[in-house]
Amino acid sequence: MTRTLFVGGNFKMNGDLATLSKLVHQFNDADVDVESAEVVIAPPALYILPLKELCRKGIEVAAQNAHQLPAGAYTGEISLNQLKDIGLNWVILGHSERRTIFHETDELVAEKTAASLKAGVKVIFCIGETLEEREGNKTEQVLDRQVEALAKVIDEQSWEHIVVAYEPVWAIGTGKVATPEQAQDTHKHIREFIAKRVSQKVADDVRIIYGGSVNGKNSKELCSQPDIDGALVGGASLKPEFVDIIRSAE
Ligand code: G3H
Repeated sequence: MTRTLFVGGNFKMNGDLATLSKLVHQFNDADVDVESAEVVIAPPALYILPLKELCRKGIEVAAQNAHQLPAGAYTGEISLNQLKDIGLNWVILGHSERRTIFHETDELVAEKTAASLKAGVKVIFCIGETLEEREGNKTEQVLDRQVEALAKVIDEQSWEHIVVAYEPVWAIGTGKVATPEQAQDTHKHIREFIAKRVSQKVADDVRIIYGGSVNGKNSKELCSQPDIDGALVGGASLKPEFVDIIRSAE
């Protein structure tokens, strides 16, 4: 089956309204075939609404995080129902910065993901190993554990609303990108684990995208690997270069 390529831009806690609006205008004006790749940008929460208004058809907006409960006394948090209320279709969950800096466990990320699907919000589900884990030959064990936590709490049909983002922690924001072979091998392993744990159909259909120092120069080779279905881009999504990354997925 053909999996539509997916390119996400995670702005993290960067930018202001003026610069991010200008950036979105540049993405809007770029001559890219939005039919061949699904494009989703994730601005800081308070810029979601204004940027969503600016994005042309074919560019969607995601939140970078959400709370698992529908409402309540959780100062500073945003619920998935609230994201849905403003018409948002996507959220990034389990980013390594959430897992490490904000101590989100595999179970919490899985719980948030299940809650998100229940609220009708699709999920960019992030997984990845640290440098220490890779050097200790624990990469597959770590990824299996992260995917297993999710497989336990969602049913087979729900996987169609998930994009798995494999982001080796050592490659995030470091300029140290995984080689296309390293990334392909790991994506293949994730797909095989999903085939074993969930079903062959889900493994064939689910998009697994790569993140970690992706830029306009390395994206084409990464995205052309058989098990790599696009990219989750941090730093380079804050530059017009993001357009070249979208083009490399065409
Ligand atoms: O969510 C995006 C990733 O953390 C990648 O960030 O492209 O700046 O390495 P980066």
